[in-house]
Amino acid sequence: MIVLFGGQKGGSGKSTLAMNVGALLASQGKDVLMIDGNSTQGTLSNWAARRESTELPQLTYVEKSGNLYKTLDSLRSKYDHVIVDTGGQDSKEFRTAMLAADVMISPIKPTQADTETLVYVSSLIEQALEMNAELKCYIVVSQARPNPRIKAVEETRTLVSSLEFFSLLDSVIYTRKSYEDAVAAGASAAEMGDKKAAIEIENLVNEVFS
Ligand SMILES: Nc1ncnc2c1ncn2[C@@H]1O[C@H](COP(=O)(O)OP(=O)(O)OP(=O)(O)O)[C@@H](O)[C@H]1O
Ligand SMILES: [Mg+2]
Repeated sequence: MIVLFGGQKGGSGKSTLAMNVGALLASQGKDVLMIDGNSTQGTLSNWAARRESTELPQLTYVEKSGNLYKTLDSLRSKYDHVIVDTGGQDSKEFRTAMLAADVMISPIKPTQADTETLVYVSSLIEQALEMNAELKCYIVVSQARPNPRIKAVEETRTLVSSLEFFSLLDSVIYTRKSYEDAVAAGASAAEMGDKKAAIEIENLVNEVFS
């Protein structure tokens, strides 16, 4: 399956989720390719490079800019899963990856400003669906704060309910230091020993991959 992390909001958690989902799939014995479609920033590929010098389950990674469609389409059958990370703005990488992806996940912080960026993403999805009618698009609330969590998540649910082409995942990703610490270690938050993070990433994967 080709899973794209994309959106129109910087810092929402796309690269973080790509790493954690990729690491979980690798730990399940899957053959995983990670594509860093935001190579000027290089968050995903730098993480994957650090992972190579660990004993953790390995994955393959590549940086790719420009049109990702052909690359993704040709690699689809060579891996169990291809995880693509793109930058926090409209880009050629984001638009062309949407044409090949099975699933697109847009993480958003549970705020009005972040949610509003999805209106634009929704218009990009509408165009992509003309070429890739099978594309499924999900929103996941990311970097939720534990205390007012129910309210923020419920408010987000209301805000996104009017958006076409998207469904909101039940899974919620909370703000956890382990997600930050894991980046420098080439690991996932779960591999850093955070059991709560492990469960929320498992829930996300189960929801999207089932
Ligand atoms: N659930 C989380 N808990 C704690 N910190 C997080 C979480 N998700 C992301 N972060 C932190 O927030 C920052 C931005 O996250 P990340 O790089 O994943 O966002 P992004 O959407 O890929 O950003 P960009 O659009 O710039 O590519 C990073 O410092 C990351 O460690
Ligand atoms: Mg990123």
